[in-house]
Parts: sequence; structure tokens; C-alpha cells
Amino acid sequence: MSTISRRKVLITGGAGFIGSHTADELEKRGYKIRILDNLNPKTHFNGWPAWVRPSWEKIKGDVRSRATMVRALKGVDYVIHLAAMMDLMPVYSQFMDTNVTSTALIYELIAEKKLPIKKVIVASSQFVYGEGRGRCKIHGVVNCEMRREENLKRGKWQPVCPSCGKEVVSLKLVETHQDPANQYSISKYAQEMIALKLGRLNNIPSVAMRYSIVHGPRQSLKDAYSGALRIFTLQMLLGRTPSIYEDGGQLRDYVSVYDVARANALVLEDERADYENFNVGGGKGITVLNLAKMIAAEVGWKEKLTANGEYRVGDIRDAVSDISKLQSLGWKVQMTEGEVVKEYISGVREQKLDKDYAKEAEEQMKKAGVIRRSGVK
Ligand SMILES: NC(=O)c1ccc[n+]([C@@H]2O[C@H](COP(=O)([O-])OP(=O)(O)OC[C@H]3O[C@@H](n4cnc5c(N)ncnc54)[C@H](O)[C@@H]3O)[C@@H](O)[C@H]2O)c1
Repeated sequence: MSTISRRKVLITGGAGFIGSHTADELEKRGYKIRILDNLNPKTHFNGWPAWVRPSWEKIKGDVRSRATMVRALKGVDYVIHLAAMMDLMPVYSQFMDTNVTSTALIYELIAEKKLPIKKVIVASSQFVYGEGRGRCKIHGVVNCEMRREENLKRGKWQPVCPSCGKEVVSLKLVETHQDPANQYSISKYAQEMIALKLGRLNNIPSVAMRYSIVHGPRQSLKDAYSGALRIFTLQMLLGRTPSIYEDGGQLRDYVSVYDVARANALVLEDERADYENFNVGGGKGITVLNLAKMIAAEVGWKEKLTANGEYRVGDIRDAVSDISKLQSLGWKVQMTEGEVVKEYISGVREQKLDKDYAKEAEEQMKKAGVIRRSGVK
């Protein structure tokens, strides 16, 4: 066994969806795994999930705790920081506390205790682009502002040019841009900045991963605040009309969790990734309505699918990532969205749905004013 293969990786949020698949991938490559997770009741049911392997060292604790992090960081060579808060609820300080402070703490402890950590990878998100960039017929490529409430209320969904107010055609998202515009994306971009800037300052190679929407088995059924595949699947399996927001024409790109786990392993092993950020996406835009149709075909849903004209405050219109930067390191998308949908639904069918979690999340978001109704159906 080579020296590399005996190295140890700490994965925060390692009991979760991306964390556990990343642990599987790295263990396959010969790494020792330590996971740290507080088994957040918003995500988990009861204790460590079944996919947590006996060979993984487990620490139950919170990434915000200094004492826990001192223990977790001791004796590891790499850190993959995935534990986070990630819904759209307006609990701003909790977002900063969990996502940003925990990242700062990791760097603080590595520097303070001169820990021999070889690399830190942080989980960012496609959300950091905000509305991204668009092409205006008059002004060319422009940065799109967050969509205004008065437009959304009238069912004008497309982002507009900040100079002339005309609708723009959305462009693919490229890593040189960012315009975080809600509590989640602000916290994710702050995590990126801490990693890339404080990493450089302290000579700790660091990488920030801007994941698109990640799909696959082990995605928590409980945390149904986001994730169209999870929400639509739950709704259709429970016989409820899927809540397709806006007009269903929002473009998204979806990436399989297996491809994400391979991307994490690749940047951990490849020095060319150091101090860089990377999009990790499926590379192809699919409308939310078309995703709903793919799910309906798999689930056997026969009713007509239509958008409900509601919208979520802080949501973005189109988000399709350009993945050429990561591809230039040799990474490839290996699983199509069709394959992911099939595998995900068969996984959900095997689980016991004790409650309609999608409905519960929707009701909470309505109560908090996150989901609002436009004047169009
Ligand atoms: N899933 C996606 O589509 C997606 C997209 C973009 C970015 N991300 C990012 O990827 C990361 C992982 O997301 P995921 O989809 O695997 O979510 P997940 O909920 O399945 O996993 C997160 C894990 O972190 C744990 N956790 C939460 N708060 C914690 C805390 N304070 N201390 C310790 N553990 C805590 C949870 O118990 C959970 O096991 C997050 O940082 C998220 O922002 C995910």
C-alpha cells in the first residue's frame, strides 16, 4: 500500500448525502475515513444511518464547537468540509454561524496548532452566482440583478438587463463570476473566500467546489426544503400534484452524487486544483417541468403537469454551470440525469414514508413568507 493510500480524511457532514458518497469513493481509493456529524434531526431519522460503514471513525458533534473540531482535526491529512445549513428559511444568523464560522474555525485551528493538513476542500454552491449573467440584445453580456418582486408578482419570470429593463437570455455560469443574493449563497461564498484567501495566507492548499443540484440515493427525505427531484418524487408517490413553481421553465443542471464524489476525490489528489474554485455540474440545462415529466414517467403519474404560478423568494431563474474548468483536470460526467432519476426513485420506493415531509416543508416556507403567489396560474 502506498503512503498516499494510508492518509486520513476528515469529512464533516460525513453521515449526509454527499459526505457519505465521498467517503465511499475515498475509501475505495485507500484512504482512512473519519466523519464528523451532529446527525441533524432535519436530515436524519434515528442515529447513524445504515450507510455509515464500520470502518469509518465516527465523531458525533457540531462543527461550531471548538473542542469538537480540535479533536476532529487531530491526526488527519485532509479535510472535506460539507456540514452546512442549506434551506431557504430566513434564519440568517444560523446560516452564518453554521457555514461561515465553522469554516473560519477550521483555518484558525490549523494555523494556531500548526496542524500538518495537506488540503482543505469546502462545499460551495451554484447558488453563489445569483441570477448569473445574461445576454441583452442592446447591451451585450450583463450581470443580472436579483429578480424584482413586482415582476414576479406579474409572472414576469425572466431576469432583465439592469440598464434597459429588457429580458435577457441567460448564459452558462463560469467560475470567474459570483453575485450571491440570499442567506445561503452569501454564506457559501464567504466559505469560499475563507478557504481560498486564508488558505493562501497560511499555505494550506484549499479548493472550493460549486456544486449544481446534486441527485442520487441517500438524499434525505426529511429535508424537503429544496431539491426538485426529492420534492416531486415525494409528492407524486403520495398522490399529490407536484408544486412546479413559476411557469416550470426554470433551467437547472443536475449532477449525480457519484460524479460529485469523484470530483471531490480528484481535486483532493490533483495539485493543479489548489487555491481554485470549480463548478461541478451536469453540463446540460433541463427545465423544471421536463424534470417533473421524467419523474412522472418513472413513478407512473398520469395527471397533467402544470406550473402553479407560485414562486420562492430568493430563488433564481436559470442556473446551468459551465463545467469545462473541472473537465480540463480530466473529470467527466458519467451518469445522465435519466439514470439518476431512475436510481433515486427506486431508492425512495424502498424507504418507509412515515410522513409527507414535502408538505410540511412547503407549509413552513409559506408561513415564513418564502413561497408567495403571483397573479398568474
Ligand atoms: N445536495 C446538493 O444539491 C448541494 C448543492 C450545492 C451545495 N451543496 C453543499 O454540499 C454540502 C453537503 O450537502 P448534502 O446535500 O450532502 O446535505 P446533507 O444534509 O445530506 O448532509 C449534511 C450533513 O451535515 C450534517 N450537519 C449539519 N449541520 C451540522 C453541524 N452544525 N455540525 C455537524 N454536522 C452537521 C447533517 O447532519 C448532515 O449529515 C453542504 O455544504 C451543501 O451546502 C449541496
